[in-house]
Amino acid sequence: MNISVIGTGYVGLVSGTCFAEMGHTVRCVDIDADKVTALQNGAIPIYEPGLEVFFDRGVREGRLTFTTELAGAVETTDVVFLALPTPPAEDGSADLQYVLGVADQIGRLLADNDWGYKVLVDKSTVPVGTARRVAEAVEAHGLTAGVDFDVVSNPEFLREGAAVDDFMKPERVVVGTSSASAGEIMRRLYAPFVRSGNPVIVMDEESAEMTKYAANALLATKITFMNEIANLCDRVGADVDQVRRGIGTDSRIGPKFLYAGIGFGGSCFPKDVQALHRTAREEGYDFQILDAVLRVNDAQKHVLVPHVLEALADGAGRLDGRRIALWGLAFKPHTDDVREAPAHVLIREFVRLGAEVVAFDPEAVETTQAAFAREPLVGPGSLTYAATVYEAAQDADALVVATEWPEFRRPDMERVRRSMVQPVVFDGRNVFEPAQMVASGFTYRSIGRPTPSAPVEHAAPFADRPALASSRTARTIPSREVG
Ligand SMILES: NC(=O)c1ccc[n+]([C@@H]2O[C@H](COP(=O)([O-])OP(=O)(O)OC[C@H]3O[C@@H](n4cnc5c(N)ncnc54)[C@H](O)[C@@H]3O)[C@@H](O)[C@H]2O)c1
Repeated sequence: MNISVIGTGYVGLVSGTCFAEMGHTVRCVDIDADKVTALQNGAIPIYEPGLEVFFDRGVREGRLTFTTELAGAVETTDVVFLALPTPPAEDGSADLQYVLGVADQIGRLLADNDWGYKVLVDKSTVPVGTARRVAEAVEAHGLTAGVDFDVVSNPEFLREGAAVDDFMKPERVVVGTSSASAGEIMRRLYAPFVRSGNPVIVMDEESAEMTKYAANALLATKITFMNEIANLCDRVGADVDQVRRGIGTDSRIGPKFLYAGIGFGGSCFPKDVQALHRTAREEGYDFQILDAVLRVNDAQKHVLVPHVLEALADGAGRLDGRRIALWGLAFKPHTDDVREAPAHVLIREFVRLGAEVVAFDPEAVETTQAAFAREPLVGPGSLTYAATVYEAAQDADALVVATEWPEFRRPDMERVRRSMVQPVVFDGRNVFEPAQMVASGFTYRSIGRPTPSAPVEHAAPFADRPALASSRTARTIPSREVG
């Protein structure tokens, strides 16, 4: 089948590449000419495990191409995916200007040309009623839904960091359409992805749109609930990890999304919860749980700050002259995406209070630099980047772990301890075992887990391990110069 994908971000590029891998011919369109040139030259602008192999094969075999020309792409394809941004507007609602703008352009193109029937697919996360609005934007040019085109809602459930796997083996594909012919085209398109028997669930457009928001809002609620349990565990002396195991084995609850930490971030959960909350308000419905999720999550991103201040601040509550190592910038492991990353909230706070933050992340330094160039840090402190976990920890007064990259579990912690001014660790992702950290001489605090006040018998200190290598070079950028 011939497909075009409009928008080559995390969703568009992964979708387009995976469709090409399955044998479809895919034309990817983006308004960002630099990005398109880079893609045409074989450079993938995002980090996503497994993407490169499929990308290279698709490009080499001519099934995957990139352009800035919308018209040519729509002309030559039967199915047009809209994988466009839907960022939060000022009032928290999803900003539909990109989706509706492209729908309008496509409507004009279809009206001016005799290109035959097209299926337009909303892959962006959009509020209920958007498929209808996209259809209206196209119909405004004199076209007729069902004859010249159909609009399908096909929300995407991939997770950054596992996007290729998720796309290639979806647990389910949701297709919202009232058109039999569009439904049949979507079934054929996805057939190779669901050979193992996972369902293509066809429903009406509105339910498909709501399904995406309901899924993200429920997952965000699950994480947030667990973070509140962790906060309470901290107060009553229970261990959230044991509680997690205790409840995660209940099949009604399930083991996933029960890990406590310093809050969720990313490009989806925060904005989608906000947008659903907004939709509810517009309908005169007070969706109270969502309001609580947003408030609790904002607070959770700061939950370590009072403890860092207690350990490091001067009498005025400031961190001037203090060096804080920060491991992890991405909002979660296996991605370079830093949108709404809790690490960034901590950096802003520490820099505002005068600290020198030395950060390490295996993938998210460039995206962090870009983010702070757009919205500069404010304060007397500074942010510099280290090439390795060890370099970040060197001469630090404390280490904060903000992302649970697997490699943060493996460093030679004895070396880390020796290199720090004082061996104080704030583990925002519960990466380390409290008893082992204490046995190894660290002052340690995590989320919702008690730390033994003295070494316990069964906990062995860290054994020496080989140093981790990293290809990145250190860069030093004082905060005032960032952006
Ligand atoms: N990122 C995720 O994990 C994820 C998962 C599921 C759903 N979604 C949803 O998918 C949508 C896209 O998300 P994303 O993370 O891929 O966004 P993104 O910001 O990474 O990418 C969007 C792309 O669209 C391009 N673009 C903007 N206007 C354009 C136009 N007029 N014509 C062509 N291209 C244009 C941008 O240049 C950018 O490359 C959003 O609605 C998001 O909520 C995202």
